[in-house]
Amino acid sequence: MSTRIEEWDQRYRTGQQVFETPAPLVVQFAGGLAPGSALDLASGPGRNAIYLAERGWIVTAVDGSSIAIELLRASNPSIDARVADLESDGFAIAIEAFDLVLSCYYFQRSLIPRVKSALRPGGLLIMIVHLAGADQPQGTPTRACPDELRAFFSDWAIMHYREGEPGESGHRHAVAELVAKKPH
Ligand SMILES: C[S@@+](CC[C@H](N)C(=O)[O-])C[C@H]1O[C@@H](n2cnc3c(N)ncnc32)[C@H](O)[C@@H]1O
Repeated sequence: MSTRIEEWDQRYRTGQQVFETPAPLVVQFAGGLAPGSALDLASGPGRNAIYLAERGWIVTAVDGSSIAIELLRASNPSIDARVADLESDGFAIAIEAFDLVLSCYYFQRSLIPRVKSALRPGGLLIMIVHLAGADQPQGTPTRACPDELRAFFSDWAIMHYREGEPGESGHRHAVAELVAKKPH
């Protein structure tokens, strides 16, 4: 297990970063959609996955932290919740299987092609990533540089893109938010 995931296990074990409410961006853009199938990547204990499941979505959630997935399963056993390290090949993301994909506060450049292929044509992607500081203009392995996220989806219909302060409390670093529709 990677050090990063061990750190997340430890946070969740001690009750840190267990948010009760879904990300406002998810509520804003997915709250009014007709339910379908959704994938929540790096779901954590599942605030967004649970929000969707309660609205009739069939949700698959995946996170590297087994503690997060235990918490998620205890909150909502209807969610197909998997423990997997997204940096390895441990979780095969089904192709064109989802109407909605979420990736909130998780950034892994190598995952972007799989995120794109997971959505059905016309499906919606909601991503929030942390931005690197001004002293790291190329970004870092887990933080994007300005405009990087939007550039990955230049051929998609971008419904929302914003860089700046996080749109919710509990996050200290600047973010990029993207909501984009996969072309038909
Ligand atoms: C900031 S939390 C975000 C949780 C959730 N998306 C939310 O918005 O509340 C980042 C999550 O990424 C997960 N994570 C980090 N590295 C991972 C990896 N390599 N594979 C799978 N999950 C990972 C952590 O366990 C943690 O739950």
